[in-house]
This record gives sequence, C-alpha cells and structure tokens, in this order.
Amino acid sequence: MKLVPKLPVVRPGGAKVLLPNEIVDLKKPVTRSRVVRVEFCELASEGLMDKFVIRGGNRLVGSIRISGAKNAALPAMAAALLTDEPVILENIPDVRDIQTERNLLVSMGAEVELGYGRASHRTTISCKNLVNPEAAYELVKTMRASTLVLGPLVARMGRARVSQPGGCAIGARPIDLHIKGLERLGSSIKQEHGYIEATADRLRGGHIIFDKITVTGTEDLMMAATLAQGETVMENCAREPEVVDLAALLTKMGAKIEGAGTHTIRIQGVDKLHGARHRIIPDRIEAGTFVTAAVLTGGDLTLTNCDPTHLGALTQKLEECGVSIRAAADSIRVTNGHQLAAADVTTEEYPGFPTDMQAQYMALATQAQGTSIITENIFENRFMHAQELARMGANIKVEGSRAVVRGKTSLSSAAVQCSDLRASASLVLAALVADGETILDRVYHIDRGYERIEEKLKSVGAQIRRIGEFLPRRAAVPSVVA
Ligand code: EPZ
Repeated sequence: MKLVPKLPVVRPGGAKVLLPNEIVDLKKPVTRSRVVRVEFCELASEGLMDKFVIRGGNRLVGSIRISGAKNAALPAMAAALLTDEPVILENIPDVRDIQTERNLLVSMGAEVELGYGRASHRTTISCKNLVNPEAAYELVKTMRASTLVLGPLVARMGRARVSQPGGCAIGARPIDLHIKGLERLGSSIKQEHGYIEATADRLRGGHIIFDKITVTGTEDLMMAATLAQGETVMENCAREPEVVDLAALLTKMGAKIEGAGTHTIRIQGVDKLHGARHRIIPDRIEAGTFVTAAVLTGGDLTLTNCDPTHLGALTQKLEECGVSIRAAADSIRVTNGHQLAAADVTTEEYPGFPTDMQAQYMALATQAQGTSIITENIFENRFMHAQELARMGANIKVEGSRAVVRGKTSLSSAAVQCSDLRASASLVLAALVADGETILDRVYHIDRGYERIEEKLKSVGAQIRRIGEFLPRRAAVPSVVA
C-alpha cells in the first residue's frame, strides 16, 4: 500500500479537496463513504453541522445592536459590477450570504476586501478587471440572490451567464420577470443547460410593467437600466426599503433615478458610473425578530442602530396584541408584561406585513390568547416551521396558504430541524419560551442571515449555546437550499 501525505482527494465529478494531515492511500478507490467523510470534515469545519441548544424560560432584558441589512447589502455588492472604480460599503453584516456574494464576485475577477473588527463591517469592492461574467451553479444553488448579478453584468460587460437558481424550500421562485425585463431593455436571452445567457451590445431604455411585484426583480432591472441608452420607466415596482437603499447607492455612483420607494421608477441611462461610499441600512427583519423575542419572553429590550419606520406593519400588529413599543430615531424599546391577545395577519409586499416575519409571528401566536389566522400571500410553501412548532406542542392547522394557530399553548423542548432562514428564527423564538432544553439542528440556515444571533441573545439573558459536531458519523450530506 502506497501512502502519500497531503494529496488532493478527487470527488466524483472532479472537485478536489485538500485534507489537512490526511494520509491518502491512492490504491483505495474513491468511494461514496470516503467522500462523505471528506465532505463531513468540510461541513463540520464550516459550521454546517452546528446546532443550538436553548433552555427556555428567561426574560430578555437589555440592549442589542442591529446589524446591516443582508437584503440591502447583497444588491449593493452586485451594483459594484457596474463600475471599474472602487465601491466602499459600510455596515455590512457578518453573515454567510455575504461570504457567498464575495466568492461570487471574486470568481468573476473582482477584488473584494471584507473588513471586520476595527474595519467595522466595511467592504471595498473593485470590479476593474472583470474576466468571467458568470455566476456558476455551485454558488447560485446556495444563494438565489446571486441572480442579482445578471442585470449589472449585461449592462457593463454586454454579456452574462448565470445559473438558473432552481427550486427553493419556500416556493418555486422563478426569475422569469427578471428575464422578461432584460428582454424589454433589448437583451437577447438564451436558456440552456440550466443557464441563462444574456447578451446586448448596449441595453436601451424601455417600459417595463411587472406582472407581479418582485423585490430583486426591481433591483436587478433598476441596476441594468442605469447604463442603458435612454430612459427606462418601470411600473408595479417593489417599494421595499432595500430598493430605496440601492437607488441611493446608485445615485451616489452617478445614476439618474427617480421614484424609488414608489410603484413607478424612472431611470435615465448614463454612459458610465463611478465609485462611491455608502452605509447600508439596518436589518428590519433582524430587528423584527428580536422585537418578537422580547414580546414572547415578557422582556424589556432596546434595539439600537435600527430604523423603526421600516417596522411599521409589525409594530402596529404587536400593538394590536397589547404590546407597548416606544420608538426613537434609531432605536426601539419593547416591553411586554401581560397576556398577548391573538390577532390575524396577512403577508403583503412592503409596507404591508413582511413575509420574512411570518414564521416569527407564528411562534408568537402560539403564546397569544385566542385564534390567530396567518395568511401567506407571497410564497406558496412558507409554512415548513409549522410542523416543527407542532412538535413542540403548538396547536397549528395549515390549510393551503392559511395557518390557524390556537393559543395559548405551553411549548415543551424537543429536537427540531431548521429548513430555511426565517423558519429557523421562529424555532429559536419558540425555544426561548419552551419548557426544557431544545436542540436546533442545521442552524447553518440561520447563519445565512443573522449575525452571531446566539451571542446577541445571550447578551440579554437567553440560555443559548452553539455546539459543533466533533465525531464524524456517516451522515447524509445536507442538500444546500436557497
Ligand atoms: C426578496 O426575495 C428577499 N430576498 C426575500 O427574503 C423576501 O422574502 C422577498 O423578497 C419578499 O419580500 C432578497 O432580497 C435577497 P420576490 P425575492 O421576487 O426578490 C414571484 C429572506 O428571508 N416571482 O419579491 O426573490 C416569487 O416566486 C429572503 O431574507 C416570480 O414569479 O422575492 C414570489 O412568489 C427570503 N417571478 C413573489 O414573486 C420572478 O421573476 C415575490 O418574490 C420573480 C418573483
């Protein structure tokens, strides 16, 4: 048997993995189990096998600083593709999706500096030497927002090859409206082998009426139209604060945009955009999640570095449930000392109740007196958390796009599984009020969009800890979802 130290192990399909101090016997065939073990080491080292252990029953008291918004940072990083000058973004959250976006831009030839600690969540992106206008399946399958590079690449480089994102835990989530919009701006589109190939000598201004309100669709085409010849008018646009924040950055880069935040956006195309420095808005969904945690635990929590005006629909709903909320310019204080009243909620596009707060609200509704009817209007499969909450003792009946939650029910600890980003947040919230110690599996979902959530919760009194898997076991390789 010939043993050779530190040789790459070849996966089926050709990907190479270098294992630290692993002696590889080349005579041994590359079997599935060996790849599983290799993949396990990788997953474990990347925290993809981490779990949370949460003991319920503690009130949350104190103050938490809210991070920058993931859903504003991702399009802002893609916007850097529109210029060959450096773009500096501040208040960037330290979450997994930002790492993925960074890897995506670097794979195209961009230089991306991610600074933390003293560099206080700042990133500097230079897309001077873009060589490969492609978003590969390996990256897009881990994060659908990767498709936000489509418009900027066609606008700047005249071509883009972007993997179709494929299915998602919360719904089909096609990107047909992005493609239709690009075609209306004069791009020719080919779809084959799971990829979208878009080309255009130069995009030209056009009139786009979205069949449906789409957040990243509005962002993608707004970016594309900034370098188009002539004027573009987009109607039935998304009005989310993240769209407004992106328009603010693009305007600093020299773009001519009017109407962001309304249903009609006008963009006057320019020949070239320049570099800029921009501070990303706070994460309203992270803030909403902690507000709900404070309410559920009967706590007294102040959230700083947030924008209460972005939380209108949520705070109004919570006041309906009997919660007291005090808002200041960039902070919000939540106190709740009495029994919650049930209230129905329907998810809508902004400024309506956000679908990204639906799961967290469901956890809250399990502790409210009475029946809450939750209607999900945006995504067709966004009740995965309901079964897991039911395993903890919640009384929830899902009927199509409606969930009927009867409360108040006492929750008991259980081993539960995260299925997507916001579903994971709702399980953390339920565990904070459950009797006993709950174990949350697959918390890599939550790391995608929450910056060190366990440390933030611990700092205000929660009993929560992260545990990683130490002993390799023949585990099924988790399929990475969008
Ligand atoms: C954005 O996703 C957010 N992601 C989502 O947050 C959020 O849930 C969603 O907006 C709605 O608020 C980012 O900003 C990165 P959409 P997006 O296009 O843009 C359909 C989180 O938890 N549609 O507004 O992908 C679609 O299927 C994530 O942080 C089409 O049919 O959502 C959905 O039913 C999850 N064709 C509806 O429109 C299209 O081309 C709204 O989706 C595009 C969308």
